[in-house]
Amino acid sequence: MIAQRFFKIISPVLLACVAFFSVQMNAANKSFYPGKQWPDDKGVHVNAHGGGMLYYQGKYYWFGEFKSETTSSALVGVTCYSSSDLYNWKNKGIAMKVSDDEKSDITKGCIIERPKVIYNKKTNKFVMWFHLEMKGQGYAAARVGVAVSNQVTGPYKFVRSFRSNPGIYAANMTDEQKNMSLDVKNYEKWWTPEWYKAVSDGLFTKRDLKEGQMSRDMTIFVDDNGKAYHIYSSEENLTLQIAELTDDYLGHSGKYIRIFPGGHNEAPSIFKKDGTYWMITSGCTGWDPNEARMFSAKNIWGPWEKHSNPCVGEDAKLTFHSQSTYIQKVEGKKDAYIFMADRWTPKHPIEASYIWLPILFENGKPVLKWYDQWNLNVFK
Ligand code: GAL
Repeated sequence: MIAQRFFKIISPVLLACVAFFSVQMNAANKSFYPGKQWPDDKGVHVNAHGGGMLYYQGKYYWFGEFKSETTSSALVGVTCYSSSDLYNWKNKGIAMKVSDDEKSDITKGCIIERPKVIYNKKTNKFVMWFHLEMKGQGYAAARVGVAVSNQVTGPYKFVRSFRSNPGIYAANMTDEQKNMSLDVKNYEKWWTPEWYKAVSDGLFTKRDLKEGQMSRDMTIFVDDNGKAYHIYSSEENLTLQIAELTDDYLGHSGKYIRIFPGGHNEAPSIFKKDGTYWMITSGCTGWDPNEARMFSAKNIWGPWEKHSNPCVGEDAKLTFHSQSTYIQKVEGKKDAYIFMADRWTPKHPIEASYIWLPILFENGKPVLKWYDQWNLNVFK
């Protein structure tokens, strides 16, 4: 009797609660607002800069650099957010924490940039690759770091950091280039025609042959056949390199190529559509935005062709005040890809905003246009 009365009183309250929470849920984001602050499920601006994304078992996972109030150095680590609709993101915490051990490569205060996570079907492991700079050494180390986890959200265990493919020449260097003797001491003046020729012939590849190739801004791309590639700014940020990963995704296989030597490309992002690889990069002006570049190839090993800037309209020459970081396919939609970029705020790194724009196609080529607000319906 008492129980019945209790339920009579409590059920309208319960119904009201359910109604209230569904209204709250309906109030969730239904659009992207490029350049605006992007509140997560706790109402806090997403902190996943220079990010990358992994689609796994029906959910998107966004990994990125945790930026602090006053420094871009890694004081916390790599964050992870999850979403099922790409508009609303749940904070899943720190996927990879910096270390308190001063001797660790990823000690607090090092630089961790542009983390990308891929899933290895053979080993059932999630593998994170990121650009790593040692604490107190600025950007001199130019290394790549690898961490592994059994769960998508982490914790990721740091494995090691290294330079790329020590002792190995790029697969697209000629025998003549490999045998040439080139010494950086003879090319102290940059940007001269002789210097360009030397860079193109592998001046810095040779300088770094023993230690391994420099590896700064980077992305990871997994092809349809499961082969994965590390694409990174190398050779003093002058040349992009594309290096194949081992089958377990934990290291380089030894095969790599150099593309656009002396082209000064950073922030590589890539996708594949109808058998063509499209790459969008930035120029090299630090935190300041510049004009995006675009390249394509029918084979990952080249030849790679240069196209014009994919951005059109106002501020196209500054990539709408942003720098590329990743291109994510929208699952379940044909030819739907999102260009993800960062609008950096180096004086207050935590505030940096995200410029996500739909990749549209005109005459078969990717085009980026500004939208103040957009949603996935722009994709036909
Ligand atoms: C940018 C690069 C960023 C960061 C920055 C430091 O060019 O894309 O990831 O390294 O330089 O100045």
